[in-house]
Amino acid sequence: MTEKDFILKKTNLSSLNKGSFTWKSPSNIALVKYWGKSEPQIPKNASISFTLNNCHTTTSLEFSKKEKPNKDYSIQVIFEGEIKDNFKPKIKKFFKRIEKYIPFITEYDFVIKTKNSFPHSSGIASSASGMSALALCLISIEKELNPEITQEYLLKKASFLARLGSGSAARSIEGEIVVWGEHKNINNSSDLYGIKFPKKIHKNFNNYQDTILLVDKGEKQVSSTIGHNLMNNHPFAQQRFDQANDNISKLKEILQIGDLKAFVNLIESEALTLHAMMMTSNPYFVLMKPNTLKIIEKIWEYRKNTKSNICFTLDAGANVHVLFPEKEKEKVNLFILNELIQYCQNNHYICDTVGAGASQK
Ligand code: PMV
Repeated sequence: MTEKDFILKKTNLSSLNKGSFTWKSPSNIALVKYWGKSEPQIPKNASISFTLNNCHTTTSLEFSKKEKPNKDYSIQVIFEGEIKDNFKPKIKKFFKRIEKYIPFITEYDFVIKTKNSFPHSSGIASSASGMSALALCLISIEKELNPEITQEYLLKKASFLARLGSGSAARSIEGEIVVWGEHKNINNSSDLYGIKFPKKIHKNFNNYQDTILLVDKGEKQVSSTIGHNLMNNHPFAQQRFDQANDNISKLKEILQIGDLKAFVNLIESEALTLHAMMMTSNPYFVLMKPNTLKIIEKIWEYRKNTKSNICFTLDAGANVHVLFPEKEKEKVNLFILNELIQYCQNNHYICDTVGAGASQK
């Protein structure tokens, strides 16, 4: 599909005066990372992620026809019960990007009521779950205006719109493993939207666990926009994009044959490479904290001593995602509790698993 396929055809706008839709949409954790993009939110390499289950955003979108039509966006944002005018610029920027595809957004007054399942200051980015939940609410309006659209089109377009809000949000519509970015070895993959990993996944990866250790709950040190821009003129950029695409091919096999050892190796290398890109850009950043490294060392020690398949991955921050197969859950949870929680801010951590994607409420 091309970008043109997402432009809304004529609908009977007058048919819908007001209403409300609610969606719950998950966060996701990239296994092969997206870092570097070109306009408009086109990734420099394909990425692949686990959709999460417990970390999610629930958004209700109330809409009513404007009394006097105008070209402005009319938005009120209520986050966890409080009016948040400081959220508006980001949402208006998002609306500006998506107006071409859903022109009806200038016709309504919107009230966006949103909440996260994870604490606001946890260092967990809510942009993927937040933007995908909002995109799904907007797509529900389109479905109402144009009931002929299929579920398949609806999910693709939701991912397409979410991507224009935050790249990784394209991967937060469906579960359990999602690929975003055109890749020669993944049929039907696209730079425009995420797709479900198209092959059967080995049972070793069923219900995979992700325990998120909250090492630093502060605001992001480097915004996504600045972060992605670091890859322009980066001395290792092209090698990195090629490596990520190679890693997708490798991971495609690993996920099908259930090779946990190869998974551990690839996932940790991806995480460290993401951080290496930040350390070797100009300006340069170190986003890990001393406790991030302590946790990594402990994980390596535990793996050596027990032959566990535990591994870590990182986002663009200091928190650590500890990944492990469901069958190791009991033992690894004990290890996390006894040995790793001490490195978390206020001992805080979140237990999550791979999830099935967004759902309408
Ligand atoms: O979606 P963005 O623009 O916030 O970028 C996310 C980038 C990483 O989280 C670091 C990697 C990824 O693929 O999710």
